Amino acid sequence: MSDVRAIVLAAGQGKRMKSTTPKVLHQVLGKPILQRVLGAILQAFGGELSRVHVIVGHSADVVRGFVEQLTASGSRDAAMPIETHLQEPQLGTGHAVMQAQSGLAGFKGTVFVTVGDAPVIQARTLSALLDHHRASGAAITALTANIANPHGYGRMVRDAHGAIKGIVEEKDATDEERKITEVNTGIYCLEWPAMEAGLASLSCDNKQKEYYLTDLISWAYGQKMQTESLVLDDYREVVGINSRIELAEAARHLRDITNARLSLESGVTIFDPQSTFIAPEVTIGEETVIMPGCTLQGDITIGRDCVIGPNTIIKGKCSVGDGTSIISSFVNDSIIGQKAKIGPFAHLREGNTVGDSAKVGNFVELKKAVLGTKASCGHLSYIGDATLGDHVNIGAGTITANYDHLTKQKSRTIIEDGASTGSNSVLVAPVTVGAEAVVAAGTSVTDDVPKGALAVGRTRQKNLEGWSDKRRKAHLSSSGIPS
Ligand code: UD1
Ligand code: MG
Repeated sequence: MSDVRAIVLAAGQGKRMKSTTPKVLHQVLGKPILQRVLGAILQAFGGELSRVHVIVGHSADVVRGFVEQLTASGSRDAAMPIETHLQEPQLGTGHAVMQAQSGLAGFKGTVFVTVGDAPVIQARTLSALLDHHRASGAAITALTANIANPHGYGRMVRDAHGAIKGIVEEKDATDEERKITEVNTGIYCLEWPAMEAGLASLSCDNKQKEYYLTDLISWAYGQKMQTESLVLDDYREVVGINSRIELAEAARHLRDITNARLSLESGVTIFDPQSTFIAPEVTIGEETVIMPGCTLQGDITIGRDCVIGPNTIIKGKCSVGDGTSIISSFVNDSIIGQKAKIGPFAHLREGNTVGDSAKVGNFVELKKAVLGTKASCGHLSYIGDATLGDHVNIGAGTITANYDHLTKQKSRTIIEDGASTGSNSVLVAPVTVGAEAVVAAGTSVTDDVPKGALAVGRTRQKNLEGWSDKRRKAHLSSSGIPS
């Protein structure tokens, strides 16, 4: 199998973003642009890819730090050797590729080059580009697209036979050339070292005084080398992000592509695709219904026959079992079993495991909580750093007091199988409520409750007969009104 290298151009400043964050680290559906680009490359070329060269320049330390952290985190998007190269100063996309030359010394094969600011690109498009490049035997193949409003993109200039003879940048184009609607996506396959000679020929004799990578095409054409293109059907995949308007546009495109795939290929009902933002890495089972206003971003797996939403946010690393419903709730880094009922208005902070058929109702907050099978926590409770066994029932307004403000220590509460707490009880951790034990309403539990016991920790009620009458009379006489 032949060897593929990839070069990602990520050194530009992204002036038009008006941001202190480097352009390639802005997020699209929960992942930085650069991570989306790296993920697509890895998914497309897999085992054929021997190395990725990322060109950094503007905020180089931040971008390099991000790449290192991504690799260290074991992210699937970075599961390959990644080398960064500094481009200083940034003299254009051609100059950026020159920075990878030392890393490519001795390499023979196909070099895939992409701008680092096109995060919607789909892996299958990149595979198709490589296949087309190989099948045609071209020296360079550009991925192109037809865009009704091509403003800002380089235009593809073809000869009388339809071969690509050059790319002209918007700023350098004549009025006639500006009318061309076939644009350069900034994504190419090129043969190495054949095209390396072309890099040396680049000049910065243009409006932007930059070394344009795009000039490699006219160089190759002049050398009578074969230049090829693959024309994309759906231009939305290749929108390059230069401003925050385009950042939002890219997120919408990725949303649309993902929603269409889930609906058409995975059998998911998405009621209002426009208000539903699901990251492409989320997997959802058949017959699951996503109601309006949901955002699902992260390493998330949702089972089949679930109902998610309306107005639900799921983020981080989450899995949701078959037949579970999550209504108007916020869920982060949690595992939820099958046929569970979450919400409306539940807040699952990080680190929860909710068992099968468990219930987490309105205004319930969970944090690092484990709920057993059929455990129920229906209303107005805080369950933090707690382990609840099977069939535990939590009364409305139960609080696990897990935090010592002075020592800053958190402690766990354990409530064993079948136990229950009455309304408005406070469990001061560390504390254990034994199996089948009952905590009476309004009790503050500071000591462990033995298995099967009743814990009552409140002053006994006393009734003062006729008290109301006496009070009324006292009030009337003090105001001078005859009773
Ligand atoms: C580039 C293409 C244009 C294409 C468009 C597609 C050139 C000359 N133009 O234009 O034909 O239609 O992409 O989106 O290639 N970068 C560096 N170093 C530099 C300059 C840029 O690494 O010195 C990186 C940027 O970080 C960015 C990418 O290259 O990720 C493209 O740069 P950008 O300035 O956005 O080029 P465009 O004007 O969009
Ligand atoms: Mg761009």
